[in-house]
Amino acid sequence: LIDDTSIRLATTEDATIIAHHRRAMFHDMGRGDVASLDKMAEMFLPQITRWLSNGDYLGWLAQTDDGKVVAGGGLLVHEWAAGPVAPVQTRRAYVLNIYTEPEFRGRGLARKIMSEIVAYCREQKFSVVWLHASDAGRPIYAAMGFVRTNEMKLLL
Ligand SMILES: CC(C)(COP(=O)(O)OP(=O)(O)OC[C@H]1O[C@@H](n2cnc3c(N)ncnc32)[C@H](O)[C@@H]1OP(=O)(O)O)[C@@H](O)C(=O)NCCC(=O)NCCS
Repeated sequence: LIDDTSIRLATTEDATIIAHHRRAMFHDMGRGDVASLDKMAEMFLPQITRWLSNGDYLGWLAQTDDGKVVAGGGLLVHEWAAGPVAPVQTRRAYVLNIYTEPEFRGRGLARKIMSEIVAYCREQKFSVVWLHASDAGRPIYAAMGFVRTNEMKLLL
């Protein structure tokens, strides 16, 4: 099914492609206008560069045999309040920036990247993996066992 692509870990050199994935992801979800998406990508670039350098963010990228990155996803491990499910864990594993270029969708790339991310979280002994799902992403996560949470938000 995905014979001409392989998954690799992102390096600091991939900051720009990850910023592109984040912008294109929100664009395709119908979120934000051009100006806010551009500004977001500009603000995110130094963040992702720093996180890739210090190891807070791990990126998984699918690339074709000729080296073109066509899909990706990431995991941010950041400090978080200890909670009852895993009382000794003070950091949380948060999945973000799941994106597949339109012409490469439906080949199982997002599913494969998610499997790698979840496998990594298991290895690292995280008890919970968190994410926010788009409508397009939800079936993939649900099929892997992700469940809805009770989160709410207030826009100010
Ligand atoms: C959501 C997204 C990442 C899926 O990427 P993908 O690589 O096409 O996903 P997969 O090929 O692994 O597909 C997994 C499932 O998604 C559905 N799906 C994805 N693309 C599809 C397509 N083109 N046609 C039909 N179903 C599709 C199917 O249910 C598929 O399950 P199946 O393999 O059992 O049929 C991609 O559509 C995307 O980038 N969308 C815009 C950004 C976004 O919403 N990102 C997720 C944020 S949470």
